[in-house]
Amino acid sequence: MCGIVGYLGNREAVPVLMQGLKQLEYRGYDSSGVGVLHRKKIKVIKEQGKLEMLERKLTDKLNTNIGIAHTRWATHGGVTTENAHPHSGPEGKVAVVHNGIIDNFSNLKEELQAKGNVFLSETDSEVVAHLVEEYIDLGPEQAVSKALSRLDGTYGMLFLFRDHPEMIIGARNGSPLVIGIGQEEMFLASDALAFAGFTQHAVFVDDGEMVILSNKDYRVVNRQNIQINKNVEELDMSSNIKDMQGFPHFLLKEIFEQPKSVFRAMGRGGRLLPDFGTALLGGLNMEKRDFYDIRKIHILAMGTAMYAGEIGKYIIEDLTRIPVEVSDASELCGINPIVEKDTLFVAVSQSGETRDTIAAVQEIKQKGGRVLGLLNAVGSTMARMTDGGAYIHAGAEFSVASTKAFTSQVTVLALMALMIGRTRDISLTRGKELVQELMDLPDKITSILEKADEIKKMAERIKDHHSVMYMGRGINYPVAMEAALKLKEVSYIHAEAYSAGSLKHGPLALICEEIPSVFICTSGDYQEKTISNIQEVRARNGRVLVISNYEDDTLRKVADELFVVPSSDSLLSPLLTIVPCQLLGYYTALALGRDIDQPRNLAKSVTTD
Ligand code: AGP
Ligand code: GLU
Repeated sequence: MCGIVGYLGNREAVPVLMQGLKQLEYRGYDSSGVGVLHRKKIKVIKEQGKLEMLERKLTDKLNTNIGIAHTRWATHGGVTTENAHPHSGPEGKVAVVHNGIIDNFSNLKEELQAKGNVFLSETDSEVVAHLVEEYIDLGPEQAVSKALSRLDGTYGMLFLFRDHPEMIIGARNGSPLVIGIGQEEMFLASDALAFAGFTQHAVFVDDGEMVILSNKDYRVVNRQNIQINKNVEELDMSSNIKDMQGFPHFLLKEIFEQPKSVFRAMGRGGRLLPDFGTALLGGLNMEKRDFYDIRKIHILAMGTAMYAGEIGKYIIEDLTRIPVEVSDASELCGINPIVEKDTLFVAVSQSGETRDTIAAVQEIKQKGGRVLGLLNAVGSTMARMTDGGAYIHAGAEFSVASTKAFTSQVTVLALMALMIGRTRDISLTRGKELVQELMDLPDKITSILEKADEIKKMAERIKDHHSVMYMGRGINYPVAMEAALKLKEVSYIHAEAYSAGSLKHGPLALICEEIPSVFICTSGDYQEKTISNIQEVRARNGRVLVISNYEDDTLRKVADELFVVPSSDSLLSPLLTIVPCQLLGYYTALALGRDIDQPRNLAKSVTTD
């Protein structure tokens, strides 16, 4: 899950590479480095810590038009300057930047050490530089190809050659790689975000392919060295320039962007058919009558995307009466998943690059399963391996903590549920109600954001606790899960989510003055029992903060603190109740002085196992 960038063209390379690393810093940020050709040598400058630490080292103007760069999330070897990329071969003829894990690096390292190679780092990646240099007399292409044939594991890699200023070679197996095609300049990167602002023309590289890049052209070959013709895609990069637009953090900007991003998830209304009380998702590659044959829907995802799936389960089962299973994708592979003809699998992923989810999709497809993708990153690996799907159109999400992607994922799952439900038991009247409720969401979210200061005050009373419990019943339970994740991943306060009904079965033992509870309590089926659970907590001196979509005397009496969101259809209430929870995570982290957009130990896209 680190970021790699390569540039060859008519500009000064270092500023372009640094701009690319800034765009990719969300992918990992424990160290970074650049490698350029300068005065006929590969000059490597790298530094532990955030990107600005590297910037401070780049004091000399390096006149060069070719280079590679890397922002790291360590998997093999500690967070040190020595372990930062790029890594070079023993004679400085080759440099490499790598995203992924080389599983057999130890054996290769021993083999090379037996030949006298001395390694300067603990990483797996450095072994690749030595291996390519071992074969460099074959020429760059053959040397890389031969080295790759000996690697087991995953990689997105870029190679720079001391004696070949006319080329950069890239290779992909399991980690993303994309070519950016400019005017007399070419880019290679983990994510097209790296060259946003320079070009919108992109070619997505597939597993097993190698790219030979010049400043005017590129060639893609497969493992048999046969040239592959690739489609050039035109990407809409307009919203992808990393710009805080006056907000203090990307996390707050992206929380406040949700009225617009939820509207975009509805295709700016284009995915809704008010007259027919239904929704239309064009990219599923499924006819309406195909929905008749679906007997089960199986959602697979990780983290926030998985909690979106858990909410989607409630919405889909209510509207379609199709049983829905939600799986932690990392578990799915380990249990030899059961794939049946009439099961529709749905992979949910903001980045489309999460290794665990990709591995699960691969296994399911290998068993003949049909997999749709609900994705944000256009052209991502999952976008190219699924049998259809829908983009959530959240726009680039730079904060590691996912917020607008989450509400857009839930929105698109709701559209899918409505579309399928209307081919079954959902009436035109009910369908029209839901379409109107969906259209009302952006304004309701705006009204919540206008009360953000109330949450800021709540955060002041949360920030000094070492643990917080989140609870809800029914559809509010996965909201509690996502709310707990938002708090813990940005504030580092321990937070756990429980179904409120399970409280008496153990978690109640935790309740005390030192551990506050946040309840998601909405009107309707779960209301009375949730109130009872709140009273159980109060009876044991637990402080209770309630996020609700109604207000009455009872609620005001039992809640130490109450935040009320606008009412809505119960199935869509998570799109409203999650917003104050996102803000609570943000303001708590702010009060604690945390690194809000780049929390410790985390990265935005987990592209390694
Ligand atoms: C959420 O805030 C985290 N960034 C993390 O749990 C994330 O949701 C998870 O890694 C899945 O990422 P994806 O949606 O890109 O697959
Ligand atoms: N395995 C390499 C390292 O530890 C790359 C890590 C990554 O892709 O995040 O340096």
